[in-house]
Amino acid sequence: MYFIGNWKMFGGLNSLNSLHRVIKFYKGFKRNRLVKIIYCPPSTLIRPMSKKLKNSRIEVGAQNCHENENYGAFTGSINSKMLKDVGAKHVIIGHSENRQRGESNKKINNKIRSALKSGLKVVFCIGETSQEKRKKKTYQVLSNQIKTGLDKVKNTRNIIIAYEPVWSIGTGLIPKSNELIKIIHFIKKKYKNLKVLYGGSVNPKNIRELKSINNIDGFLIGGASQDAKKFIDIIKKTYN
Ligand code: PGA
Repeated sequence: MYFIGNWKMFGGLNSLNSLHRVIKFYKGFKRNRLVKIIYCPPSTLIRPMSKKLKNSRIEVGAQNCHENENYGAFTGSINSKMLKDVGAKHVIIGHSENRQRGESNKKINNKIRSALKSGLKVVFCIGETSQEKRKKKTYQVLSNQIKTGLDKVKNTRNIIIAYEPVWSIGTGLIPKSNELIKIIHFIKKKYKNLKVLYGGSVNPKNIRELKSINNIDGFLIGGASQDAKKFIDIIKKTYN
């Protein structure tokens, strides 16, 4: 099971102090062979975090990248090669917070292909808005996102899908279990070997309900991942 922490635009160097607790927990956790932890901090923390997590088997990822895998005159941007260079092994692409700011499926496709070329593993986010859900367009939206997002991607071995309904991110709302089972099944049917995570308001209170959905391969965790105790609680409760 994957437990991926998305710190979003939170955290400075002193936030790294909280990792000690997670490193210690992970080391002593009996089921740790079954658990893969990945932290995706802001880009400024990738290097120092990688150093801190050295030898812990916890990996580091980025939250986005530019679509061009070569250097170029793109002020303010960072590409996948640069992220890899400072220690990232993964990158989140297609997060709804970036889609809402204009990132298209086509651009996401370019980003995914560039990240794979640079040797990063991709956490590819998809999800419908509340309006699309209301209009019963969920499956159509997800299909489009996946189809265009993975266009010309021949090998999906280094891709994990994170299903994150936009209406559940940061709201405390989660999908009904039967709906979630169906959606995950739908995604897996399209791409046989893909792992599918759930993301959106995952916390220590709802994790028991979520973990009972047996086709989920893990979780993408925003808010709760910034709190070491909550993050650890989520992992513990997944296994008992
Ligand atoms: P949340 O965020 O857990 O705070 O809802 C999830 C995400 O945006 O990846």
